[in-house]
Amino acid sequence: MTPYEKLKKCYECVREKTDFVPQIALVLGSGLGAFADSMKKVCEIDYREIEDFPISTVEGHKGRFVFGYVDSVPVVCMQGRIHYYEGYDISNVVLPARLMGMMGAKVLFLTNASGGINKKFSAGDFMLLTDHIATFVPNPLIGPNIDELGTRFPDMSEVYDKKLVNIIKETAKENNIKLQEGVYAMLTGPSFETPAEIRMLAKLGADAVGMSTAVEAIAARHAGMRVCAVSCVCNMAAGINPTPLTHAEVQEAADKAAPKFRKLIARSIEEISDALLTGAV
Ligand code: HPA
Repeated sequence: MTPYEKLKKCYECVREKTDFVPQIALVLGSGLGAFADSMKKVCEIDYREIEDFPISTVEGHKGRFVFGYVDSVPVVCMQGRIHYYEGYDISNVVLPARLMGMMGAKVLFLTNASGGINKKFSAGDFMLLTDHIATFVPNPLIGPNIDELGTRFPDMSEVYDKKLVNIIKETAKENNIKLQEGVYAMLTGPSFETPAEIRMLAKLGADAVGMSTAVEAIAARHAGMRVCAVSCVCNMAAGINPTPLTHAEVQEAADKAAPKFRKLIARSIEEISDALLTGAV
């Protein structure tokens, strides 16, 4: 089965269960899954109910699509994403992003947990992605191009939509939420980085590092979706952080930041939706 055949099969399977058409697709990162509980839920589909769908195994990640409303905005939300380090082929990692695009989502809103590299950051900060470095992971578009989705050589000069970035910045300001911005570097994981790797990433211009997001953003841009992303800087990265890193620490920091994060995401989704509907963006 080609990646596109698989995608179509997953889409048909979803459509047997719901005809919900989302305007915005939201991917919830480590520890941030609770956002879905604050939505007005219409329907849930466990990934296991979708034939051939890659299943997430990481602790703290629930594996399901939640369909519902954030205020009055129709949203499909991924409670639990697929990571490359779980052993999936990279085309499986981006399948859900493509699938949510097929469902009708115009915007892919990505969230994640990251390690802070920029020394001006502190653990618990949020960072709006202005760009990414995905050079250390396989490109999700490798293989025959899926012409039905997009072009062979898609432009990546503005992966994170400037208009959406501005809306999120404004929203943070209006709600008194401190928001950093910067470049996110994606590495495969699952090991955390060494201090030398963090020094390298700092020299390359990265402000934060994580194990997701960039490949999903590439696939979404390829398919013509508009993309924005916010990271929860859960810890300072190796060598900057004085103590060894643990997943539990990341999870704990994400849990602590969750209420503010939920507010930022919810308000931003409402503003983005309004702007889309009025043609302001
Ligand atoms: N490195 C990579 N991924 C992460 C980190 C980190 O320090 N923190 C949370 N996700």
